[in-house]
Amino acid sequence: MNKPRIFSGMRPTGALHLGNLMGALDNWIQLQDSYECVFGIVDWHSLTTDYAEPSAIRRNILEVAVDWLAAGLDPERSTLMVQSLVPEHAELHLLLSMIVPLPWLERVPTYKEQQQQLMGRDLSTYGFLGYPLLQTADIVIYKSDAVPVGEDQAPHIELAREVVRRFNNLYRPVFPEPKTLLTPSPRIPGTDGRKMSKSFDNAIFLKDTPEELRRKIKPMITDPNRKRRVDPGDPEKCPVFDLHRAFSSPATLEWAAAGCRGAGIGCLDCKARLTDHVLERLGPIHARRPELAARPDTVWDILREGSRRARERARATMDEARTAMGVQH
Ligand code: TRP
Ligand code: SF4
Repeated sequence: MNKPRIFSGMRPTGALHLGNLMGALDNWIQLQDSYECVFGIVDWHSLTTDYAEPSAIRRNILEVAVDWLAAGLDPERSTLMVQSLVPEHAELHLLLSMIVPLPWLERVPTYKEQQQQLMGRDLSTYGFLGYPLLQTADIVIYKSDAVPVGEDQAPHIELAREVVRRFNNLYRPVFPEPKTLLTPSPRIPGTDGRKMSKSFDNAIFLKDTPEELRRKIKPMITDPNRKRRVDPGDPEKCPVFDLHRAFSSPATLEWAAAGCRGAGIGCLDCKARLTDHVLERLGPIHARRPELAARPDTVWDILREGSRRARERARATMDEARTAMGVQH
């Protein structure tokens, strides 16, 4: 009665926001029931872009872990690990680097996209090109059957499958081909209407207090045609309504849509209701978070214990991979 295995990872970018919750974490929490899960905080992946300023990484690992635990990832059921505490990921990355043709890496769409987006940094590095191959190692070292990710990561999982096929053909079938488990993710705009992202400075964090939440939602961009209270609006053109869709009850959705179209409600009423629903959703997280945040040593113990368990499995896989490639002595 073995459950299928999954691996997924997050870079330690710091406190998690509503986009991380609805686009990944919430889904991971559900998956814990039906899969054997390993979830990794992938700090080496952060180094591929932040190598010049690594000082925040350690602190950010803790922030992510606290949010994970507060949101409901359960270290009793899932293995919660830190990538750099399982150095076998790096060894497998090295072995896989021997067989991956350079063009496979160069044509991954995120490679050129990210280089253009993060223009201030020199990303013409070996490590950055290898980003998706390191991700492949993360996944296959646990012989994962599936990987829950958003659409943007699909090409990386495709690369993982291609590398697995090449390895299994060259040597012997060691790794299963990981399937993409596409996470259904509603649009989560930030306070400026663009996609919610830490780097846009438009994020609402899980750890934001009710006051901060109100302060951030109140001035949010709305349908630009609703300048005055008497102007009817179109919820389809309003980022506040996108958040309602993700967080509010069907009754509130209907109330907001009708009130917006008929100018029966004001945008501030609409935002206040949204704030209530977001707070309702964050309630259990807010209840659990302070205790975890106050005990960094306990949280690190959980990560170390998860990484120790992960490492046992990683070691077993590495014995097979080394043997297949003739370097097990
Ligand atoms: N690249 C992923 C992201 O930016 C993070 C990641 C690293 C990952 N290794 C992984 C995701 C393995 C899934 C599986 O979101
Ligand atoms: Fe947006 Fe609500 Fe204002 Fe309509 S009433 S524009 S949905 S904030």
